[in-house]
Amino acid sequence: MISTTTTADDAPDASTSASDSSSVAAAPRPQVGASGGTDRYLPEHPTPVIECENVDIYYGAFRAVHDVSLVYGRHEITAMIGPSGCGKSTVLRSLNRMNDLIPGARVTGKISYHGQDMYGSGVDPIEVRRRIGMVFQKPNPFPKSIYDNIAYGPRVTGMKVDSMDDLVEEALRAAALWDEVKDKLKQSAYGLSGGQQQRLCIARTIAVRPEVILMDEPCSALDPIATARIEDLMEDLRKDFTIIIVTHNMQQAARVADRTAFFTAQAAEGTGDRTGQLVEFDLTSKIFSNPADRRTEDYISGRFG
Ligand SMILES: Nc1ncnc2c1ncn2[C@@H]1O[C@H](COP(=O)(O)OP(=O)(O)OP(=O)(O)O)[C@@H](O)[C@H]1O
Ligand SMILES: [Mg+2]
Repeated sequence: MISTTTTADDAPDASTSASDSSSVAAAPRPQVGASGGTDRYLPEHPTPVIECENVDIYYGAFRAVHDVSLVYGRHEITAMIGPSGCGKSTVLRSLNRMNDLIPGARVTGKISYHGQDMYGSGVDPIEVRRRIGMVFQKPNPFPKSIYDNIAYGPRVTGMKVDSMDDLVEEALRAAALWDEVKDKLKQSAYGLSGGQQQRLCIARTIAVRPEVILMDEPCSALDPIATARIEDLMEDLRKDFTIIIVTHNMQQAARVADRTAFFTAQAAEGTGDRTGQLVEFDLTSKIFSNPADRRTEDYISGRFG
């Protein structure tokens, strides 16, 4: 349940989940080709971790997103793509109640986390954000040491931790940064390169042991080499986490995502307001090779957007 107290040992653990027997993690993963991010076995339907049902999102009177229904699968990477302004970030922020922090933002419809209404009364948004962490477009380390960037979350959330040193090392290893920083943990995070800073932010997110990691264009400020490292890292992280990524880079979606959701924005008659909508959601290989909707095809082939 979302509102339970945080402990150090409630990390996502493939061996303890009730839904394990039907999960992707339990399924075989043969290599079946290299037609994108889906070169492994995937069931037709994802095992839901987060589910949107008929979701509309408003900023004041402006409806930014209309009627989104979408399932984000456990231990999968789901990409959300589409032209600028179609509501990708808006939807992403609604998945851990980050939109609550924007005055006037409002969500209707239902967003559930393991079947529980995330916006229901009694649900603690802070706990939602601990379980569903977020990595932003621009690396945003705190003005603290590398060590304290990682230790900060566990400290402020009151996590029970046997050894903070061990936890810091574990998070930095999981984010593929340990070897580069192990001798300068007390130095400022600002001394790291952009790509290192973004991996630090991923480590910081991992440190509070979330189940889901949301990423909003996490590589858009990085060079191709740093981008490739983050993409490799995402592939590793999928074993332990569920990842939802917004990206403008279609090659990136094709490379890393198991499933892809394509959004577009439609101008309303009369007002001309552009409201985002989900056009198509399917296996990434299908979206990029044989999309069902003409608008998806136009976008991925570069004719639109
Ligand atoms: N804080 C806000 N207040 C008011 N309107 C907003 C806010 N954030 C986004 N919007 C509006 O909501 C719509 C969707 O924006 P959003 O940022 O979600 O799009 P996006 O698909 O992420 O675009 P991009 O690819 O450029 O990042 C846009 O019309 C935008 O102007
Ligand atoms: Mg955005």
